[in-house]
Amino acid sequence: MKKVFLAILLATSILQAVAQQNIGTYEEPWRPKFHFTPEKNWINDPNGLVYMDSTYHLFYQHNPFGNHWGHMSWGHAISKDLVHWKQLPVAIPEQKDFMIFSGCAVVDVQNTTGFAKPGGPPPIVAIFTAHREGKNQSQYLSFSLDKGLTWTFFEGNPVLDLHKKDFRDPQVSWYAPGGFWLMTVSQPLEKQVSFFRSKDLKDWTHLSNFGPAGDTTGIWECPGLFKVPVEGKTGTYKYVLMQSPSPYMQYFIGEFDGNSFRSENENATVLRPDHGPDYYAAITYENLPRDMNPVSIGWINNWNYANDIPTTPWKGSMSIPRALMVRYTDKGWRLIQKPVDAIAALEEEKGVEMKEPGNFPYSIPMAGKSWHLTVKWTVADSDQVQIQLAKGHEQETRVGYDTKQKELFLDRSHSGSFIHPAFQKLSRYSIPMSLNHGDLKLDIYFDQSIVEVFVNDGEYVLTAQVFPDEKEEELRISSQLSRSRVQYIRFSNLRSAWK
Ligand code: FRU
Repeated sequence: MKKVFLAILLATSILQAVAQQNIGTYEEPWRPKFHFTPEKNWINDPNGLVYMDSTYHLFYQHNPFGNHWGHMSWGHAISKDLVHWKQLPVAIPEQKDFMIFSGCAVVDVQNTTGFAKPGGPPPIVAIFTAHREGKNQSQYLSFSLDKGLTWTFFEGNPVLDLHKKDFRDPQVSWYAPGGFWLMTVSQPLEKQVSFFRSKDLKDWTHLSNFGPAGDTTGIWECPGLFKVPVEGKTGTYKYVLMQSPSPYMQYFIGEFDGNSFRSENENATVLRPDHGPDYYAAITYENLPRDMNPVSIGWINNWNYANDIPTTPWKGSMSIPRALMVRYTDKGWRLIQKPVDAIAALEEEKGVEMKEPGNFPYSIPMAGKSWHLTVKWTVADSDQVQIQLAKGHEQETRVGYDTKQKELFLDRSHSGSFIHPAFQKLSRYSIPMSLNHGDLKLDIYFDQSIVEVFVNDGEYVLTAQVFPDEKEEELRISSQLSRSRVQYIRFSNLRSAWK
């Protein structure tokens, strides 16, 4: 009897220890400090980005049971500032015969669905794909009458079913000029985005299709159509159609006339919201206050190795939320993306700032692992400037500009000890771009295992994961021929958003 009791005790304490080990401390190796990661287990796409009553909701593709893709459900976190997140229980769990794939959430202010209770708050309605493995993907509704805490499946589901195996990732917003809900949804294999309209989110009518266009190499997932303000022209907007031709993303800028989207970009150019390997399935917030720019969040990972990255007990992170604008340039319309202001509040006051120009190499030996660096250069002809970060004896990640190739590059081929064929193959990324009088400004956000590079105040962005060993902490700014001039450097560590 005693033996049985001891065995049970031992088994229980082992189970407890395992459970404790599984709970994230936010201190594990490579755990980001100012990016959203779940306490534990797998995540992919952001879902249902919606703002209501001063709260930003972040739902996401989540496996509540493990650190690999599977059992897809909607995880849930909330924030007051898009930087400090509180994780809540799973919002919409996997069902017996279908998984909960990607989608969006809207606030049904006018109660077009009739879901609201008299005197209660407006419903938040999630519109997502019910995935029946190998059989069917159709669009479902689930609604919350308590501002996102608990969810009920609509009994009339599915609300849109084309009886196809691949038909997914609905994004819905209120199209005010027409007085209807507009759904943008993906036909992945056809490499098309389809538009539908509805008065009540329940009954949908097909409007038109867009595509194939731009990058048609991968299947098309996670589309979104949204209005973006034109920089410097208050009250004017363009429509941006953003989607994910796997494993990267692209966007088109143009007009939506209530029926179809027309791109105003040259057909031959593929425009990317991010030029790195690790930015996917980004969507934008619904129901933001009128005076706010659209805000997007993307999943930092790449399907070529997403399941194998060496992090535990979680896998996958969300990008810094980005505030969006469009600009008309000599090449046509371009998306401009900046980190949301709230990120700056995490910067420690005692940083390094240098306003004196020079052409010296500059080094911060113990830069730490979560920081923001701004560097402005005047890059000399035929020179190459670079930043080596997370640098040790044998490891480093390089970000720089090469005047001969006319490209900005990120090279992670020696960044760490994650040995994976696909990751290694995808180790150098570049953005073809020329400089205006040699001017180059880089804002680099480094967060343990994430590098996000914002070029020239958001003209381009490049996101990559790196997995440096513990000791790799030096940050070095230099130029090959020592002819380029550094105009400005600012460095500061960022505090953890999890304390
Ligand atoms: C994109 C995606 C979506 C799908 C979801 C499943 O990363 O493949 O198309 O809804 O992930 O988790």
